[in-house]
Amino acid sequence: MIAPTDDIDRIMTVMQAAFDPAFGEAWNRRQVEDALLVGNCHYRIAEVIDEPAGFTLSRYGFEEEELLLIAVAPQFRRRGIGEQLLRYCKADAKMRGARQLLLEMRSDNLAIHLYQQNGFIEIGLRKNYYRTPAGNRLDSITFACIL
Ligand SMILES: CC(C)(COP(=O)(O)OP(=O)(O)OC[C@H]1O[C@@H](n2cnc3c(N)ncnc32)[C@H](O)[C@@H]1OP(=O)(O)O)[C@@H](O)C(=O)NCCC(=O)NCCS
Repeated sequence: MIAPTDDIDRIMTVMQAAFDPAFGEAWNRRQVEDALLVGNCHYRIAEVIDEPAGFTLSRYGFEEEELLLIAVAPQFRRRGIGEQLLRYCKADAKMRGARQLLLEMRSDNLAIHLYQQNGFIEIGLRKNYYRTPAGNRLDSITFACIL
């Protein structure tokens, strides 16, 4: 999916506000542009009164979609925007032919509550999968949601 520059700007505005730098999870602009150039990556942007509030970035593979990133800017959190973005991502993925939506999550991320309440089940644990910029190792949980 080719993204207009304006949309990349919106995604990057949320990206820079949403991710804690301690974990090094935010993507830079080049990474987002490259992912969207490939053609099997897709995005959704949520706006509140013309202000970018959140986004998802996902990748479709054979009968599977992977949610690569979901983020909501801090000032817009706990209003259901994350849930709504997930709903759209599931519906879009299903339309593309995906049977399940997968995601990887740092095991101590509070986003776990969002996933558990929205039909995701834990299907795997990778010990020491993430390395933070400070050099700490963190486990990763793989979640799946049947579509
Ligand atoms: C995770 C994230 C996308 C959630 O966005 P959001 O718009 O605040 O989520 P919602 O308002 O739709 O939350 C829906 C429900 O999920 C749960 N939930 C969401 N965030 C939560 C949190 N920080 N702590 C506990 N429960 C949470 C709650 O049950 C919430 O319902 P409630 O507000 O009525 O209690 C947002 O916190 C974020 O951008 N975090 C930083 C980026 C990130 O870590 N992304 C995930 C990478 S795997």
